[in-house]
Parts: sequence; structure tokens; C-alpha cells
Amino acid sequence: MRLQGKRALVTGGARGIGKGVAERFAEEGARVVLLDVRLEELKQAEAELKERGFDVASLVCDLSDPGQIAEAAAAAWSVWGGLDILINNAGIAYREPFLNIPADHWDRVIDINLKGMFVLSQLVSRRLVEQGTGGAIVNMASKNGLGGSSMLAHYNASKGGVVLLTQSMAAELAAHGIRVNGVAPGFIDTPLDRELKQKENNSLHLTARTPMGRLGTIREVANAFLFLASDEASYVTGATLVVDGGHLANASEL
Ligand SMILES: NC(=O)c1ccc[n+]([C@@H]2O[C@H](COP(=O)([O-])OP(=O)(O)OC[C@H]3O[C@@H](n4cnc5c(N)ncnc54)[C@H](O)[C@@H]3O)[C@@H](O)[C@H]2O)c1
Repeated sequence: MRLQGKRALVTGGARGIGKGVAERFAEEGARVVLLDVRLEELKQAEAELKERGFDVASLVCDLSDPGQIAEAAAAAWSVWGGLDILINNAGIAYREPFLNIPADHWDRVIDINLKGMFVLSQLVSRRLVEQGTGGAIVNMASKNGLGGSSMLAHYNASKGGVVLLTQSMAAELAAHGIRVNGVAPGFIDTPLDRELKQKENNSLHLTARTPMGRLGTIREVANAFLFLASDEASYVTGATLVVDGGHLANASEL
């Protein structure tokens, strides 16, 4: 049990990668609070994990609203009497040409993917410092935060911001025993991914330039979060672990 006795808060925990991370952490002995804006899917995920005998709670919160984040951070803290791990996974994307991006889409992507992460991390970090036990924060970046692409300028900018926020938090919080790392997945088979593909009439050849020739699984991403959140990564901070089947390594491929 690699997370025995640890208490984790996972944002975007109702479905997709966040749900997979929560499940993986619970399998390794963690108690988990799921946070999400989708009430129905959140309750379903909580019920599924509880059925398997795991210690799980859930909180509804819209991460684009700093007031709701403050309430959720306090509530998450009181569920298990503290936290040891924060997983900032929630995120959204729109696929649209740079020339057509409406300002409200720009704001929404930055508000949820980057500002929400900052606000929640600051609140949880202040409490971790007070608690005095150290902790681990793992932020969801993306391969799109490490290299540009068309159709996703707002998303790519938000994820590039996550990579630098991660490094900057790591530099300041190390003195308090808090490690901060990121995970940068490539193409992963999730509901978000399927929605984007459907909008493009399935015409995207997502794995064409990926040397491993397939989508990644939620569990493969969850395992990267598990490593970085666990004591096995005790000398790792400020890193962003790429989990992309070799996609970025193959950037010059035509
Ligand atoms: N799927 C991929 O291929 C892929 C690749 C790289 C990075 N990512 C990143 O992984 C993360 C999870 O993606 P996913 O594919 O599991 O997507 P998903 O849509 O299945 O899950 C995202 C979760 O975040 C929640 N969420 C969205 N907006 C929120 C808000 N305002 N407040 C609270 N919760 C909110 C959603 O309700 C959902 O449960 C995202 O940050 C995404 O950018 C995904």
C-alpha cells in the first residue's frame, strides 16, 4: 500500500482521469475526497468507490468561482481532519481556430485550468504549512503545455502556465516539505477526448505521430500521479512527467 494513511483531494474526480486517479489512490490505501462540478457523475463515482469498500467523500464545487473554492477547501480539510495530497486534475478544452476564439472561451479555459488551480493550491498549501506535515501536490498539465498546436491556443496557454506554476510552487514550497510536480499526458482515452473527436467527425488521427501507436489509458496516467504523490518520489519536485507514448519525443516527424 503506497499511500496508506494519506488523505487526498482530487479535482475533476467525477469522471475520466480524475476518477481513475481517485480509484488508484484508494487502491493504495488513501482516503479520497472527490471534487467536481458535475453533481450526478460525482455522486455516481463516490457510490462506485464506496461499493468497493474505499473511504471516499465528495464535494460539489465550480473551480471557476473563487468563493466556491474557498468553501470547498475548508470542507475538504474537515472531512478527514487534514490533507496530505492535492491533485489538481480538473480541466476543460475547446477546439477552435485562434482567429475565432471568443474572449469568454479564453477566460473560461484560463479560469478553470490555471486560475482555479492557483486559488485552490494556495488555500491548501497555507493549511499544509500550518499543519506542518509537508505534503504532495500534483498538477495536471498536458503535452500541449510543452509544445504548441493549432486549434487549442487557449488550452495550450493554460497548460504552459500549469508547467511554470508547478515549478514556481515547487521552488517556494520545498522549504515546507511540500513537493509540487506535474503530469503531461498525450492522447488519453477519456470522455473529454471522445467529445472532442466527435465534434471533429472522428477525422482526427490522434495516434499518427505517436510512436507507441495507440491512445494511453486512464490507469497509465493515474500511475504517474501515484508515483509523484507517493514517498517513492521523495526527491522529485518541480518536475513534469510526460506520459504520451513518445509523442513529444517524435516532434520532428512529418
Ligand atoms: N484526455 C486527454 O487526452 C488529456 C490529455 C492531456 C491532459 N488532459 C487533462 O486531464 C484533465 C482531465 O481530463 P479528462 O480527459 O479526464 O476530462 P473529463 O472531461 O473526462 O474530466 C474532467 C473533469 O473535470 C471536471 N471539471 C470541469 N470543469 C470544472 C469546474 N469548473 N469545476 C470543477 N470541476 C470541473 C469535469 O466535470 C470532469 O469531471 C484535464 O485537465 C485535461 O486537460 C487530458
